[in-house]
Amino acid sequence: MRTTVGIVGAGPAGLLLARLLHNAGIDSVVLESRDRAYVEQRQRAGILEQGTVDVLRAAGAGERMDREGLRHDGIELRFDGRRHRVDFPALTGGRSVTVYAQTEVCKDLIALQLEEGGPLLFGAEALAVEDAGTDRPRVRFRYEGREDVLDCDYVVGCDGFWGVARQAVPAGLSRVFERTYPFGWLGVLADVPPSHDELVYARHERGFALLSMRSPEVSRLYLQVPQGATAEEWEDEAIWDELERRLETRDDWRLRRGPITSKSVTPMRSHVHEPMRYGRLFLAGDAAHIVPPTGAKGLNLAVGDVVTLARALTHEKETGSAALLDAYSETCLRRVWQAERFSYDMTTLLHSDPGASPFDGRIQLARLERIAGTRAAETDLAEGYTGFPLDEAVRRHGPADGAAPAGAEGAVRAAKGRAGHPGRRRA
Ligand code: FAD
Ligand code: DHB
Repeated sequence: MRTTVGIVGAGPAGLLLARLLHNAGIDSVVLESRDRAYVEQRQRAGILEQGTVDVLRAAGAGERMDREGLRHDGIELRFDGRRHRVDFPALTGGRSVTVYAQTEVCKDLIALQLEEGGPLLFGAEALAVEDAGTDRPRVRFRYEGREDVLDCDYVVGCDGFWGVARQAVPAGLSRVFERTYPFGWLGVLADVPPSHDELVYARHERGFALLSMRSPEVSRLYLQVPQGATAEEWEDEAIWDELERRLETRDDWRLRRGPITSKSVTPMRSHVHEPMRYGRLFLAGDAAHIVPPTGAKGLNLAVGDVVTLARALTHEKETGSAALLDAYSETCLRRVWQAERFSYDMTTLLHSDPGASPFDGRIQLARLERIAGTRAAETDLAEGYTGFPLDEAVRRHGPADGAAPAGAEGAVRAAKGRAGHPGRRRA
């Protein structure tokens, strides 16, 4: 089999890249080791930055998101029994975020790809990326019990943290920057209307808690749990009791309980692999970097990577210049490290570290007081949460030869030029 761009992995990064390339007239093949149902049902992210919403809409994948996504103009910080709302549009010149689950983004992109795009093979497991340092990179994979080879001009590793693509970068060229945290998140879905109309991030001596949602009828909730904890050791009632304690306020706010329909534990880590390119292999999304989930940056970073890459590949196709491909790793890493910093700040601001001293606890409260009490600190949080503009990196590191912006960046600009945000805010 042969294609221009071989994409390993059909998570949000691989699926969106395939769509952007299709729109730019560049053919691709997507290999995904799991089946379609698994990819469509894997519970993960829920918050889309404004830039991600703009990109999905411009890529023609925003119709259902615009109907069903919930626009959120703020979050609530809870600490010491107090509540502080951070007003995003007021602090950022009008930016907001949208609650629309990763499962739904993937369903929309899969349907479009199968209808209009190039091959998307489920149950196709990449075994190795070979010859990435040459002009003829290839992916060896297993499909329907047989081994096969996908010959490509370029290979993109969108295969997440546990994928194989990253292993094709020679060890001597790789640098890994990593931090693990001594806790994880227990995440649950519950058939009960959210107990607040915006997300609530709570700092408590017993540990962090997050109240989020999937729809006006379904709540998504998270609890900090010790490293190594399993979902099975948490009874449903114990989860609600713990959420109630950590989310408690001094006023009459109450947590609504309902049937829990799924629970799982996620470990927390920060991880960056540099560089994000080796020869004709490009890494995008979780294959290149992981953030702890506090602050909801992972999916949005993956989108930033593939927008940058689609634009670079389009530029190469239209002008013959590899300047943007050459700048890919550096361009992405600038944004990646800002998101790493933000996610680290949010994590250490809100979680209770088992090794922390009473002094550390007071410092956390002082940091929260500062955010609640000064516009500069609050603005910094609001800017980080709503996301750094996707085309900022492109503006600063645009085509060295002065060529007109093309492909995905053009698409983002077009989306930005349209009026208003059709998403709805919950009453
Ligand atoms: P993935 O989604 O991991 O996709 C990789 C794909 O590659 C998978 O489908 C996998 O099956 C496939 N694959 C792996 N190996 C192979 C192989 N050898 N051959 C073929 N295919 C392969 N991010 C946010 O932005 N906002 C949030 O609110 C948020 N909340 C989160 C909450 C939780 C509990 C978790 C765990 C994560 C959260 N994230 C959030 C992070 C976000 O889910 C990830 O960053 C995002 O899924 C990254 O997308 P990706 O396409 O790079 O990787
Ligand atoms: C969700 C996940 C996050 O990591 C976060 O910071 C906010 C919301 C969610 O899954 O809804």
